[in-house]
Parts: sequence; structure tokens; C-alpha cells
Amino acid sequence: MNDLTELLDIEYPLLQGGMGNVSHAELTAAVSEAGGLGTIGAGTFAPETFEQILKDVASQTDKPFSVNVPLSVNPDARKILSMAVEHRVPVVTLSAGNPAPYIENLTKENIIVMCVVSNPYQALKAEKAGADVIIAEGYEAAGINANEELTTFTLIPQIASRVHIPVVAAGGIGDGRGLLAAMSLGAQGVQLGTRLIATKDAKVHQSYKQAICESDAGGTVITGRPYKKMRRLLKTPYAEKLLEWEKNEMPSEEYFQKTDETHHIKGAIEGKLAEGHVNAGQISSLINDLPTVSALFRRMIDEAEGAFHSLPLR
Ligand SMILES: Cc1cc2nc3c(=O)[nH]c(=O)nc-3n(C[C@H](O)[C@H](O)[C@H](O)COP(=O)(O)O)c2cc1C
Repeated sequence: MNDLTELLDIEYPLLQGGMGNVSHAELTAAVSEAGGLGTIGAGTFAPETFEQILKDVASQTDKPFSVNVPLSVNPDARKILSMAVEHRVPVVTLSAGNPAPYIENLTKENIIVMCVVSNPYQALKAEKAGADVIIAEGYEAAGINANEELTTFTLIPQIASRVHIPVVAAGGIGDGRGLLAAMSLGAQGVQLGTRLIATKDAKVHQSYKQAICESDAGGTVITGRPYKKMRRLLKTPYAEKLLEWEKNEMPSEEYFQKTDETHHIKGAIEGKLAEGHVNAGQISSLINDLPTVSALFRRMIDEAEGAFHSLPLR
């Protein structure tokens, strides 16, 4: 038990990252039922779709879960946040935008607010604005990445030594060794994305899961650097096309159209890896099986405890 698990009322310090478009009730409920904190990724969902998923999660678990609202991504972010309040969601995770204007309205409703940041300055600002938890995401992570390109290993201690609220590490964690490392750097828990995609409970296309299991070192790439809209993707034929288009200086409007959410759905849900992109982090090359979330969590905790007790420090 630590401040984070006590605050969130969860058994293990394991959180599901918000995952736009691939979010569905079963994975969120599976994570919460397995002792972690499940998260509905509101992504670009319309309010009606979001509300249905919210109801489905509530019907599958009575344990706490979060709702991730990527502020600059979902045009209905405000509406989704007010629905979260209406439905008495216990935790909200704000990402991809300035969380300050939203925090007080949520905390005054007794909703725990977690903010995803990519540098210490954002962390200090979020703490000052009243956030309860900082999720610090390093450049190893899947999906939208920050321009600073700070690694999780360097980011966590910088933030943990500056803020006074619990810090969660995200990016590059997929087993008990990563969990232990993150906690020794000052995090009180970890947020997982890629590792949870590669589980039986995730409802993404089988070829997406398989491609993660088969990927090797260098199996992911950062796309979008010239447009300052970086994303870590699995190095699929589609990601290679994106890199080629970037090299040929494709106009930004056309590039953004080719990386919009319809292309994410084509890749992740329909499994058309030459027609749409799929998010995956550097941890992919350490993933080679598809356990249930509950087996994964038990294994991670056992591994972390085993690694801790066998550290040859002197
Ligand atoms: C398919 C997918 C979609 C994601 N979408 C979002 C999102 O909508 N909002 C967000 O804050 N993070 C998003 N992320 C990032 C995750 O929440 C998480 O922080 C990240 O995956 C952690 O790094 P890892 O992949 O190395 O575990 C996404 C990740 C994946 C794999």
C-alpha cells in the first residue's frame, strides 16, 4: 500500500493508460477487476459513444476506474468532462492540453484528477493547479509523444523530487523489472499502454497484437517530427509510408488527413497494417505473449518482488 494505491483505492500500483479509439468496456473492467485502475480512453469518441462505454464499464465492475480526456484531441472534451461528473466517475485523467482550467471543477466534485505530463515544468504547473496525481510519460511510450523526447528513466526522478503528490511512470514499462525500476526512481505506480494491448482482454485486431509480439529492437518509429506532431508507432508498412511522405515534405494538411483517427481505426481495429497506423511503444520488443490482464498483473508483481529481493547491491 502507498499513497497512490490508497488514494485510488486499488490493490496494485498498475494503471491502464487512456487509449483513444481502441478503448472498450471489457479491457477497462478487466484492469480494475484485476486490482489495477482501468481507464476509458475518451479519445475522439462522441459523447453518446462515451456514455454507452461508461455504462458498460459500470455494469462490469464496481471497482474504481478512470476516464482519460485528451483535451486538445476530443472536440467534445468539455461535454465529456461534465458527463463524467454527472455519472460520478471516481477518477479523471487529463492529457494532451493544459489541464489547469478544468481541475478545480472536477476536484470540487470529489473526483481525483491525474494529469499526464512530459516535463517537470508541466508537472509543477499541474500540481499548483490542484492535480492529485502526476503521470509522467517518457518518450519510449506509444502514441502521441512530446517534443522534448525525455526518457522515462530521466523524467521520473526529476519530477518525483520536485512535486509533493504521487507520481506515476508511463512509457517503456511492461514487466516487473520495469515496475521495480520506476518505483525506485520515485514513482508510486506505473501506467501501461502497449503491454495491455498485447493481452487477451484487448479488443484490437489480432494482427496488431501479433505484430507487437513479433517486433524486435527498433521495431517502433517516431513519426511526425517535421510537423511537430510526434507519434510512436509500430514500424508497419503504413508507418514507413508516413516517414517517406515526411521526407518528401508532404503538405501538413494532407499529412494530418493521412494520420487522422480513421487511419488509426483501420490499423488497430481492422488490422490493415498497410492502410492505417498502430500505436506501440519501445517495450514492444520485450513482449512475446498474450496473457489475460489478471495473469499479467500477478506475474508483474511476482517479478518485481523477485527482482527486488535478488538485487546484488553489495
Ligand atoms: C493504442 C494507444 C492509444 C493511446 N491513446 C492515448 C490517448 O488517447 N490519450 C493519452 O493520454 N495517451 C494515449 N496513449 C498513451 C498511453 O495512455 C500510455 O501512457 C502509454 O502507452 C504508455 O507507454 P507504453 O506504451 O510504453 O506502455 C495511447 C497508447 C496506445 C498504445
